[in-house]
Amino acid sequence: MRKKVIAGNWKMNMLPNETINFIEQFAPLVKDTKNEVILCVPFTDLFYALLHVQGTNIKIGAQNMHWEEKGAYTGEVSAQMLKSIGTEYVIIGHSERRQYFAETDETVNKKIKSALAVGLKPIVCVGETLEQRENGKTEEIVTNQVEKAFEGLNLEDLSKIIIAYEPIWAIGTGKTATKEEANETIAQIRKKIAKMYSQKEADEIIIQYGGSVKASNAKELFEMSDIDGGLVGGASLKPDEFSKIVNFDK
Ligand code: PGA
Repeated sequence: MRKKVIAGNWKMNMLPNETINFIEQFAPLVKDTKNEVILCVPFTDLFYALLHVQGTNIKIGAQNMHWEEKGAYTGEVSAQMLKSIGTEYVIIGHSERRQYFAETDETVNKKIKSALAVGLKPIVCVGETLEQRENGKTEEIVTNQVEKAFEGLNLEDLSKIIIAYEPIWAIGTGKTATKEEANETIAQIRKKIAKMYSQKEADEIIIQYGGSVKASNAKELFEMSDIDGGLVGGASLKPDEFSKIVNFDK
């Protein structure tokens, strides 16, 4: 049985004092869940978040990284830098990075390899635009993104990766994919993993849904057969709302 993994993606929100307040309110609300809870926070909040989740069941992730180990890359942060302070996860290939910061399937692949090399666990985002969905291209686009992202990765690498299926048209728009649409596309991703690796890997890999997940729709989405939790943006900024999403099965 796959576990449910619920990750917050704070994007470019929250200052250190807000991070500390959030964790103080949020931690007691989710302490009894058996679901995995992750907060992906801005770089400037990482250290504070890591200090304040000590002794809780909350894991911390970053939202991006560079693929090179070190060097003349002004403004960038490496996988080793994230790992060295205790960061456990890193979001790679979020559609906002693909759209605004020239992230490509190739850079996603390089970042995944670099994250895995230091023991950071990637949350790899894939998803189609509205136009692609309307043209019946969803499966092709999404499975192609997975194929390119995972190029050169072996079975052992795969077991450390989470995939987040996030239809671009559902992110921050209030429009959620229906539970059937989300489940169908995630099942197609699993089928692709079975082809690239094996049925066992396809059955084991955690695949989240993301895109306007809220307390009011989390349960119906996360109870679907192929959906293993969610990557949550806006609704992860409020401790009460986000705790209800984490506790969807209570
Ligand atoms: P949203 O964002 O929940 O605000 O739609 C999800 C995401 O971008 O990961």
